Amino acid sequence: MKGNQLGGSINVDLEKLAKYANIGLPVLAFIFIGLGYFYSLKFYILGGIFLLLLFLNIYYRYIQKHHALLTNFGIVAQMRYILESLGPEFRQYLFLSDTEEKPFNRIERSEVYRKAKGVDAASAFGSQLKFDDTEIKLRHSMYPVDKKDLKKFKLCFGEERGIEKAYTINKPVIISAMSYGSLGKTAIRALSRGAKKAGIPINTGEGGYPKYHLMEGADLIFQMGTAKFGTRNDDASLNDEDLKELSSNPQIKMIEIKFSQGAKPGKGGLLPKEKISKEISKLRGVPMGEDVISPPCHVECKNAETTVEFIKRVQDISKLPVGIKLCIGREDQFVELVLEMKKQNTYPDYISIDGAEGGTGAAPKSFMDDVGLPIFKALPFVHKTLKDLSVRDKMKVLAAGKLINPSKQFMALSMGADAVYTARGFMLALGCIQALQCNKNTCPVGIATHKKHLERGLNIEIKAQRVAQYVESLEHDYEELLAAMGDDEFDDLNFGNLYHNNIY
Ligand SMILES: Cc1cc2nc3c(=O)[nH]c(=O)nc-3n(C[C@H](O)[C@H](O)[C@H](O)COP(=O)(O)O)c2cc1C
Repeated sequence: MKGNQLGGSINVDLEKLAKYANIGLPVLAFIFIGLGYFYSLKFYILGGIFLLLLFLNIYYRYIQKHHALLTNFGIVAQMRYILESLGPEFRQYLFLSDTEEKPFNRIERSEVYRKAKGVDAASAFGSQLKFDDTEIKLRHSMYPVDKKDLKKFKLCFGEERGIEKAYTINKPVIISAMSYGSLGKTAIRALSRGAKKAGIPINTGEGGYPKYHLMEGADLIFQMGTAKFGTRNDDASLNDEDLKELSSNPQIKMIEIKFSQGAKPGKGGLLPKEKISKEISKLRGVPMGEDVISPPCHVECKNAETTVEFIKRVQDISKLPVGIKLCIGREDQFVELVLEMKKQNTYPDYISIDGAEGGTGAAPKSFMDDVGLPIFKALPFVHKTLKDLSVRDKMKVLAAGKLINPSKQFMALSMGADAVYTARGFMLALGCIQALQCNKNTCPVGIATHKKHLERGLNIEIKAQRVAQYVESLEHDYEELLAAMGDDEFDDLNFGNLYHNNIY
């Protein structure tokens, strides 16, 4: 048999190699042990290694029954598995061009890294994008505004209802939901400390009582997922007392009811069993050793009517601004929901739209790839629906979905978002290398893992500084872009700032 494939593309005669290994390993072990006996101890060590490989070869070929390749080719086939497991790293570092990596290519990631490190973000020679007329572009003005004339950004949640605990942000970017569970405690603390330094809020994600988010003194948006960790009764219904108590914590500024998430709309949250430590099992009230799968929707919300009633209930109990997060699927259901809000005269204080391209700690592939509307389709639809139904001034709109770079965030602001959320932008600021192992508890840079020896690499203070620096650099770019548009305040941004041959 000639030319068996080893590692996908290298042509090697596996059968011949396996034969050499069968004969070579015992011979080499015998020779080196013999040499060790007559000459030096060092030969014993080599002999020992060959003996070990020989036993492994025998085990693969004659004892284990699970892998045909190992049975047929023994230790030689193991090389194939090693090459296969190294494949992603080889492709990422050696073979893929700057624009090929997914979900974020190297150009996009490098921009965040440079921003987070405060390194000069200028590039040379010209854009590396395609300019094939399918991308959205920003329309600049012939008469840019002087930067000193720009008005400061300000957004107040809850002002529409005139509530006492209305909450104001001064920067149009927020750290999106990531729970303690999907991320490790060190990453959560670094993000939270960074949020505090940057003067922006951080969303707790759906992981229950936000012990590590609270630790660093940042303003928090407490997220209530469909399992309602932290505020739940046993049947996943809302425990009013728990919510009341949580909301009285002065660090908790807003509540977000999560209906769905772009990476897995129509499914509840998923935390793989590998990531359920003793502490997480206690904080969430879930058993160890099993995947934790949240219900696909809130038990209280079975239709538009009960959904709006539930929003009102959370507003009444918490006394805080209350937003909702969802990925748009069926547009008619969103319209129906807004009509029901009008009917009950109850509006969430914000709607956060998560695009289908959004990230996750863990989700089924078909949901990640093919369910839900992408953000640049969903956001204009939501903005227009609210305007057409004359309720756009009743609530704020937030947007997320691969909005990690200032120009993309700026496009969302021009499409009707009042502010943007990003999760992976901040993960990259922490030093995420896009190893795509968030679901395995093996994150090599210590962000999406609970393994102490991996978390060790993440210095909270240094990474918090990077988070704050990323925000500062984004702010700088927003101002530059705003001035270039010829607008002097964020409220002026609109569709006229965008060019795209598919939007019009
Ligand atoms: C590691 C990780 C954990 C996440 N956990 C949550 C969560 O607990 N609740 C939620 O609503 N969204 C969660 N998300 C989704 C993000 O909050 C965000 O909506 C989505 O990733 C889009 O933003 P991005 O494209 O900037 O990452 C998570 C995303 C990531 C990458």
